[in-house]
Amino acid sequence: MSETKVPKPVYPGNSIMVRPDGPLICKGDSEITLQDAEGNIILKDREFALCRCGHSANKPFCDGSHKKQAVVATQHFSDAREEDIRGQQGELVITVKENAMYSFKGPVTIFSRDGKSVTTRSRGALCRCGHSENKPFCDAKHKKYGFSG
Ligand code: FES
Repeated sequence: MSETKVPKPVYPGNSIMVRPDGPLICKGDSEITLQDAEGNIILKDREFALCRCGHSANKPFCDGSHKKQAVVATQHFSDAREEDIRGQQGELVITVKENAMYSFKGPVTIFSRDGKSVTTRSRGALCRCGHSENKPFCDAKHKKYGFSG
């Protein structure tokens, strides 16, 4: 079944959807803060798409480069560090680390586009270099590959 025919799962609160071969779609209950490692605000918004392939010319945002580069990045994952976030409320803050990952704080549901993979977290690190073998999470491969961005 094609992606467009599968109903998109909806979760309460903050969420990050992992699109197959594509970006991270971040949606907030309230505005999500996207900041750099010094705490300078890049954006506050309720929805945006973050590059996870490492090819965007408009990092940290997705610019569609994953299509030109024919990026293969699974939407599916397992998460040994799942947390129970029931009852937690609050802002999601995503920090763009230079030449490295997105780190995040705040209750969030992370899920695959088809809803087959789901986890909940209050903190963690997501890959934005495209090289992690544990996507969508960072496994420090950005160092090995000398990711710049
Ligand atoms: S940002 Fe990709 S492995 Fe860390």
